[in-house]
Amino acid sequence: MAKKKMIHDFQKMKKDGEKVAWLTAYDFPTAQFGEAAGLDMILVGDSLGMCVYGYPGTTPVTMDQCIVHSEAVRRGAPNTFVVGDMPFMSYQISPQEAVRNAGRFIKEADVDAIKLEGGKRVLPSIHAILDAGIVVIGHIGLTPQSSGQLGGHKAQGRTVESARLLVEDALTLQEAGVHMLLLEAVPPEAGKFITERLDIPVYGIGAGPFTNGQLIIVSDLIGQFQAFTPKFVKKYANVAEIVTNAIKSYCAEVRSGQFPQDEHCYHMLEGEHEKFLEMIKKYSTKK
Ligand code: KIV
Repeated sequence: MAKKKMIHDFQKMKKDGEKVAWLTAYDFPTAQFGEAAGLDMILVGDSLGMCVYGYPGTTPVTMDQCIVHSEAVRRGAPNTFVVGDMPFMSYQISPQEAVRNAGRFIKEADVDAIKLEGGKRVLPSIHAILDAGIVVIGHIGLTPQSSGQLGGHKAQGRTVESARLLVEDALTLQEAGVHMLLLEAVPPEAGKFITERLDIPVYGIGAGPFTNGQLIIVSDLIGQFQAFTPKFVKKYANVAEIVTNAIKSYCAEVRSGQFPQDEHCYHMLEGEHEKFLEMIKKYSTKK
């Protein structure tokens, strides 16, 4: 069994040019599969709102939902670095609330780090969480929780001015002490520059091939999420088709009487069958 990686391992992987593969997971079995497959890191993303609960976005997701899913993922992947994702309004109200909620992830779900969206504007919360001794991953670029202000789920950093703001935020977050940075939906040029400029590991989801590693949403990777497919997604399986076909076959076999067969039945214990036939005689006549 591989040893659980910690922040110094991710730092060394950056130094050695070794890429990190991380993925979201929201439940016990997926976490088990991910650990068995050799993931370096798992994010219990607030994308669970869309992928598990069917919400149109991530903003309705609550701390309690994130904790329950993080606990399940931790049980499924005890030897993988697990990251809890701070949901909307869990860190924006005050640094005190941010620390309390980040602390819940550590105390209740035993995660290794928390991630939160935003650059300069969330610095007071980041400072407070770091001061509490918690490992923090910054997240800039497309930040879905504030997609309203961004004018929708749009790629960021595609103009020089927008890329400059990204670089400013990246430098500010490193200066503040975050341990790693995630860039979402930004051009590869920006991904490359920020990755090379920063000392901390920089990972990407839709940030091109030059970052220190890649993140993807598991429901996209396995072809389970149906509502839309972002440009940066590569589907490695078509679970939606596999599951739908399996359920169709089940319905057809139930209706035709092909299921269940003898092999799916619990038979009476040795010698009980004859006694059973005797016993039911007195119940056989319908009143
Ligand atoms: O919630 C999530 O899965 C995320 C990724 C989109 C980065 O934050």
